[in-house]
Amino acid sequence: MKHIKAVIRPEKLNDVRDALEKAGIHRGIMITDIVGSGIQKGIEQIWRGERYTLDLIPKVMMDMVVKDSDVVIIKKVLLETAPIGEFGDGKIFIYPVEEVIRIRTGEEGEAAL
Ligand SMILES: Nc1ncnc2c1ncn2[C@@H]1O[C@H](COP(=O)(O)OP(=O)(O)OP(=O)(O)O)[C@@H](O)[C@H]1O
Ligand SMILES: [Mg+2]
Repeated sequence: MKHIKAVIRPEKLNDVRDALEKAGIHRGIMITDIVGSGIQKGIEQIWRGERYTLDLIPKVMMDMVVKDSDVVIIKKVLLETAPIGEFGDGKIFIYPVEEVIRIRTGEEGEAAL
């Protein structure tokens, strides 16, 4: 099992979720509103003649724990659906998962996803 953590543009969340559903991915998901910065360290803006940097930009973080065999399709969906083709399109982190337990039943591993 793998934990896919994707940081995306908030306005892309619905498109990404719809595309995952169409691709047959109907597992649990966690959505968190975050702020963050990437390698550009924010964006410089000018407001009323003053130059300032908006250094923490709102993003949405999606956390999904999935079967290894679903990773390829989820990556594809994210890469096709999440970008607008500019800085700040987001990032995907993938981690190994040791165990998942469904509390209601005590099921473990992929059966608990
Ligand atoms: N190395 C990192 N570690 C933790 N979080 C990160 C990292 N890189 C990006 N993020 C998170 O992802 C969000 C989006 O990052 P972003 O897409 O700007 O990455 P980037 O590396 O700057 O790529 P790009 O050049 O396309 O903008 C950031 O606001 C931050 O929340
Ligand atoms: Mg960036």
